[in-house]
Amino acid sequence: MFVRFALNADLHFSRELPPEAVEAVAKTVQEANTTLFRRGVPAEATEEQIGKITRWSADGSVVSLKIESGPYTRAHDALFRFRRSIVRAMGRHRLGLRDIRITAFRVLLPDELPDAAIPKVPFITTVHRLPGAVELELDCSASDLENRVPDRIVRLIEEKKEALSYGGKVEHWELVFESGAKPRVYSGNPTEEMLARGWIRHGASRGQWIYAPQAVQLFRALEKIVIDEIVTPLGFSEMIFPKLVPWEVWMRSGHAKGVYPEIYYVCTPKTRDPAYWEEIADYFKVTGKVPVEQIRERLDGPIGGMCYAQCPPFWPFVQGETLANDSLPVLVFDRSGTSHRYESGGIHGIERVDEFHRIEILWLGTAEQTIETADRLHEAYVRVFEDLLDLEWRSAKVTPWFMAQEGMVGGSGSAEVGTRDYEAYLPYSDSWLEFQNVSVNGNKYPKGFNVKIQSGADCWSGCSGIGLERWTAAFLAQKGFDLSKWPEAVARLVGEPKEVFRFL
Ligand code: SER
Ligand code: ZN
Repeated sequence: MFVRFALNADLHFSRELPPEAVEAVAKTVQEANTTLFRRGVPAEATEEQIGKITRWSADGSVVSLKIESGPYTRAHDALFRFRRSIVRAMGRHRLGLRDIRITAFRVLLPDELPDAAIPKVPFITTVHRLPGAVELELDCSASDLENRVPDRIVRLIEEKKEALSYGGKVEHWELVFESGAKPRVYSGNPTEEMLARGWIRHGASRGQWIYAPQAVQLFRALEKIVIDEIVTPLGFSEMIFPKLVPWEVWMRSGHAKGVYPEIYYVCTPKTRDPAYWEEIADYFKVTGKVPVEQIRERLDGPIGGMCYAQCPPFWPFVQGETLANDSLPVLVFDRSGTSHRYESGGIHGIERVDEFHRIEILWLGTAEQTIETADRLHEAYVRVFEDLLDLEWRSAKVTPWFMAQEGMVGGSGSAEVGTRDYEAYLPYSDSWLEFQNVSVNGNKYPKGFNVKIQSGADCWSGCSGIGLERWTAAFLAQKGFDLSKWPEAVARLVGEPKEVFRFL
């Protein structure tokens, strides 16, 4: 059994077809079925697997077609191949094609699919369950068919079916490195201790902290270690990536496939005319309340969301470009702002928050250069965690971050492409905290943003996200708050914690 497609289409011409034009249609149909539709089809394909015009008629200015296919020269592909030859043939009779109307489109999937595998998208109008198969009726225009909507629906159903078969299975996780146990000097919860010492306070928004000077001293010390020990010696240059990400970027990065439950959405005012907003301001002045519902009515968008993965909004910088061989690998990083994730019930201490600070390292080049850069980063991280921070940590191969963010689970695909998570031991909760990652993302981003290399080699990229809250949480959970017990380099960079605030 194989997937089948069937469509009915009416081709509207500029005027009534004279008999000689009808004869030409017959010839064009014949020619399409015997040669045109067979181009590019593998030799082993059987007759009924290949697209075919199984019925046609001409009535006035309209030619009606029924096209059926299996997986080769799918009915809709056949329609557009046929369009080219019928336009040429009718042109000789001075007839122009004005419009193509799709009057029916059916897909037969040879599988008893679970309901949950069938997407709720507007194109699917009817679902018929047959023994051992499901037949979908689609409402598609000719331009939907040119946009390959039926093929995308079939692929989506396959993906959903596969995701369902994973069921509750956990994400891929495979240990790569373990530092071994380190002396335990502290067993408290660092967030609680930071709160008690006045290093942090809750922000007004959910999952958000206000960091006092003492906490920032530690943040900046850790950041300095990243810059001096990792980023600078390896030759990375600082850039500033945008922090508002429009749909155009997430469509290309793949985030549009699944990130919706976690986005902080961004809207724009319908107009910046103060008169349009006067009522809203006046309502607040009179009641002391902000009329959120009425504000919503005055907004456009959402136009996208706030920074989520940090590297996607870099890519428009190189979009559509060809990179000179001698500029590669390109090594850059960004530390210019926050990332935002709607974490729902998952907020925990400073480790899991809705607003966080991260240094995002990004590189691109050939496959070899990309993999080599990831290896050099691994080595630099090992040095920092072992010699400078003296952490108890481990690393593991996990589901690539872009797959996880697109809502997919499972293995990592190719051996070289994938994410390595770095995890630190938290004595207070006897658990492991993912505090950063390094990924080789293959050609995913260069492909999505159409970036090429001068030599013609496949362009690859990688990225590594260093979470400052997570580094801090890991470090304090293991080293505690007695600075005399901290690794010397960190203590020196942090200095005496500054007590700027005293409350009465
Ligand atoms: N962009 C990657 C991520 O979101 C690394 O920071 O995990
Ligand atoms: Zn990234």
